[in-house]
Parts: sequence; C-alpha cells; structure tokens
Amino acid sequence: MVGTQMDKKIWLSLAHMGGHEQDFIKEAFDTNWVVPLGPNVNAFEATLSAYLGKDCHAVALSAGTAALHLGLIQLGVGAGDEVICQSFTFAASANPVVYCGGVPVFVDSEEETWNMDPVLLEEAILDRKEKTGKYPKAIVPVHLYGMPAKMDEICAVAEKYGIPVLEDAAEALGAEYKGRKCGTFGEFAALSFNGNKIITTSGGGALICRTEEEAARTKFYATQARENRPYYQHEKIGYNYRMSNICAGIGRGQMEVLDAHVARRREIHALYTKLLAGTPGITVKQSPGADFDSSFWLTCILVEPEKFGMDYEALRRKFEAANIETRPLWKPMHMQPVYADAPFYGNGTSEKIFSQGLCLPSGSSLTDEDIFRVVEVIKF
Ligand SMILES: Cc1ncc(COP(=O)(O)O)c(C=O)c1O
Repeated sequence: MVGTQMDKKIWLSLAHMGGHEQDFIKEAFDTNWVVPLGPNVNAFEATLSAYLGKDCHAVALSAGTAALHLGLIQLGVGAGDEVICQSFTFAASANPVVYCGGVPVFVDSEEETWNMDPVLLEEAILDRKEKTGKYPKAIVPVHLYGMPAKMDEICAVAEKYGIPVLEDAAEALGAEYKGRKCGTFGEFAALSFNGNKIITTSGGGALICRTEEEAARTKFYATQARENRPYYQHEKIGYNYRMSNICAGIGRGQMEVLDAHVARRREIHALYTKLLAGTPGITVKQSPGADFDSSFWLTCILVEPEKFGMDYEALRRKFEAANIETRPLWKPMHMQPVYADAPFYGNGTSEKIFSQGLCLPSGSSLTDEDIFRVVEVIKF
C-alpha cells in the first residue's frame, strides 16, 4: 500500500543524535564556557584531526561556507582572480569565490562520479590562460553526495599547472578514495556540519589545513584578524567565523557515532539498490568501482520518463503526497541566473542528470521499514 498523508513524515536527511551530545553541552554550562571557543572546540578539533589522519589540522568554524571562504583567502584569491569550480554542486561551493572578489569558472562533471571532469578541467585551464593570460588561482572539486571525485587525475592536472586545490568535502566526511579519506587531498578542504549532513553541530563547518601554521592563520582570520597585542590592532580584514563551545559539544558527541552513521547510509544505499533492481526507468547511482568508497550521504536515482511512465518531478510530487521528502539533484551553477555570465566548460553531463535526478531519504536514523515505504511509492 502506498503511504498516505496519515503516515509519519519521512525526511530526506535529519540530524541524528548519538546520545552523549547533551553531556558535553552540560559540561560547557557547568563550567560556564557558554562562549565562542573553549574545551569542546579544542576537543572536537583534535578528534576530527585524528580521524582524518596525518597532516590534517581541523579548525572548527561557523559553517562549511565560511571554511571555503577562509581557504580561498589563504590561497590568495582576490579581486578579478579566476577560480575553477565544479558546476554540478550546491551554490555554497562557488559563492565564496565571489566574496573574495573573484570569478568562478565552471567545469562540468564526468558521468562516473558526477564530479569534476579532469579532462575538461585541463581544457578549461589552458583556455583561461589563452584568454586572460593567467592561470586560475585555485581549483574547487566537490565530492558530491558523498561520492569521491577522481582525485588522482584532478590533482595531477592541478600539479602540472601549479594550481592549488581546495577540496569541497562538505558532503563527504567518511568517504574514501583509494583508501584515503576525502578531505585529505587538497591544500585545504572544507567540511560541513549543517543539520542534514553525516554529522551535525546544528550548524557549522571545518577547514582542514595541512600545517599547524595554516591552522593558526585560519583561526586568526576567523576571529576578526586581531593581532597579538594587548590592545585591538588590525592589519588585515578578519571575520567572525569561529564555532561556539556549545555547538562543538554537539560535534564531540557526534564524532562518537560518525562511523555508525556512515555505515548506516551505506546500508540504506545497498537496500535501495537491491529493492529497486530491475525497476524499468529507475537507476540508483552507484560508485564506479572499489576505489570510490562513497559515504552515500544521499542516495540518488535517475528517472527515465519513457521507461518509468513519469518524470522525476511527477515522482517527487507523488512522494510529497505520500508524506515523503525527496529533492531534485543540485541545479548546476552554470544554469543559475546569478552565474549567467560566468565562463563554463561543458559536456552535457550535469544538465542531463539534473533533468532526471532525485535524492531519496537517506538519513542514518531511517529504519528499513521507512526505506520499504519509499520504494513502494516508486514501484506501485
Ligand atoms: C557541496 C556543499 N558545499 C558547501 C556547503 C556549505 O556548507 P554549510 O551549509 O555548512 O555552510 C554545503 C552544504 O550545505 C554543500 O552541500
């Protein structure tokens, strides 16, 4: 039976508490650390850095968007500089380029991972050099929906032209490429702890730096660029981007369940794959091979209307009627009115998947019964 309005709402991806978050928050209240920074921030950063491994220094910030912004600043992106961004992503991957006065140059995806196409990336770099006389200042690949981008190829192109990589790993904490965690490849990497992500701090993010010095500089920019003087001295423009000690308390509790959350999202993806196998016109997005160990932050499907009998938007409305939240895939940045004038290097991939795709409920708190209910809406 297809779900009715009376069924409980199934959300796309809800915050999922582990159990100890409130203990850390209580500790902050008991010790009166209800301020920005404090022991929870330090401990959260230490746990996150250890989780990602060697040469990872996490700085906890107010958002993933803030992390991208501070990464770009430290890569020297300024007025008029071009930055290559993946077109198929959420706007927060590209907007910080504009905050810096730069210009995003969008590159399309390849079909295997849906992330930045390394061949097009090189074409774009060469064409920008020819047109502007300069190489782009940075490259921002994204591990979209938890699927690792082709980092070997992307980093090889980046290295060939001496352009630094800022990894947008906002959706990919826990994912691995060739046995190495997403967020450990670029000069910098951004993570998000927004309410719908693998783990949450209610809202927050982190910039992953490669050295202590970069981490210290990130903290400096994130706390109004206040110089080390007894009075307030400012020699650079700073930001108010640090994470609060309360939010970091949630993060500490969430780190205890991170592995379990990733495992459950992978299980949910496997369950969808099994239950939807052979459904005409429905393809569940898979990873292209063992090198790409996606966290499957969200399970995505492509809907072919000729074979399925309706398009993705009609299916989305059917879900809505059954009290189930689904979401169209990200609308590519080169199709966004706000970026109508930005240069774009395309191959048709992101436009095609945007015209067919839906994200299915994938939160780690969902039960198998919830997934059965979602599948029923597709099948019956
Ligand atoms: C790909 C991507 N980049 C960046 C962000 C920005 O993160 P935040 O919402 O924490 O600012 C998000 C998520 O919101 C995202 O999905």
